[in-house]
Amino acid sequence: MMKLRVPATTANMGPGFDCLGMAFDFYNYIDFEEYGLPGSCKLTSSGGAGKIDLSKNNLIYRAYAKTFEYAGEDVKGVKMHFENHIPYSRGLGSSSAAIIGGVKVANVLLGDRLTNEEMLNVALEFEGHPDNIAPALLGGVVISGLLENGKVFYRKIKVPQNLHCTLVIPNYPLATKKAREVLPKQFSMAEAVHNIGRTALLVDAMHTGDLKQLALAMDDCLHQPYRKTLIKGMDEIIPAAKALGALNVTISGAGPTILIVGDAPHDYSSLQDILSKEGVQAKIVDLQPTNEGAVIVNR
Ligand code: HSE
Repeated sequence: MMKLRVPATTANMGPGFDCLGMAFDFYNYIDFEEYGLPGSCKLTSSGGAGKIDLSKNNLIYRAYAKTFEYAGEDVKGVKMHFENHIPYSRGLGSSSAAIIGGVKVANVLLGDRLTNEEMLNVALEFEGHPDNIAPALLGGVVISGLLENGKVFYRKIKVPQNLHCTLVIPNYPLATKKAREVLPKQFSMAEAVHNIGRTALLVDAMHTGDLKQLALAMDDCLHQPYRKTLIKGMDEIIPAAKALGALNVTISGAGPTILIVGDAPHDYSSLQDILSKEGVQAKIVDLQPTNEGAVIVNR
C-alpha cells in the first residue's frame, strides 16, 4: 500500500477571486494499491469529515478514472482507503483535495507520466476554477488562471514564514454553488481596479514577507460584500479579530469558514462569544500554511 497526503486549501485570499489559493498543514489521506482487473475497485473509508460515497460515483474515484481516460489507458483496478479530515462545504477545499487525490493516485499508477499542468487540467474538468486544486497539488501560495484555450496556468510562491493563520470553522455548510449565485455578473471599472491593485500588493507581500501590507492587500469588493450575508457573525468578527491583533480577515474560499491572518500568533478564542450570540457553533483553530502539496508519504 502507498499513502497519499493531500492538503486543505483556502481560495481567493481576499481579492484574488478564483485565482489565488494557499495550502495548509492539514490533510486527507488515501492508502492505495493496484487491485484486480481493469475497471474494478474496492473503496473503504475512515475519518471524521462526514459520510463518503464508496461507489464509483465517489469524486476521488471519478477523478482517478478520468485521469486514465486522459492518458488513453484502461482504468487500472484499485483498492483505496480514504481518511478524510477536511470538513465538507466549509471553504477549505475538500472537493479539490478529493479531485487532486484521485488524479494523483492515478498518475502514480501511470508511472508519474503526467505533468503538473496536465494533472491540473484533468482536475479542472471537475472544479471549473483552479484556485483550490492548484495549491492542493503544489502547496504554497499559488497564482492560477485559465488561458484562452481553457487550460490552466500557474505560478507558485513560497509562503512567508511569519504568516500566521487562524480559521473560524462554523458547524454549518455553505454550498459553493449557493455562494456563487449571490454574486453580481458585472462589476464597475472602479471595482475591478480596486481588486487588481490589492491582488498585486498581496503577491508582493507574499514574496517579500512584508506582511503589514496585508491590512490593505486582503481587502476585496468582488465577492465578500455579497457573501457576508450568508456567513453569520462575519460583520462583527472582522473588527473584533483586528482588535485582537489580526492584520486582516476574509472569507476562506466560498465560505463559511473565516480566515484570520497576522504576522504573529494571537488568541482569538474570545470570538466564540460573538459566534454564540449569533447561535453559531464553531471551531477556532490555528493552521500553518505549508509549501508541500499532494505527496506520497511512504512510497
Ligand atoms: N474561488 C471560488 C469561490 C472558491 O470563491 O467561489 C470556491 O470553490
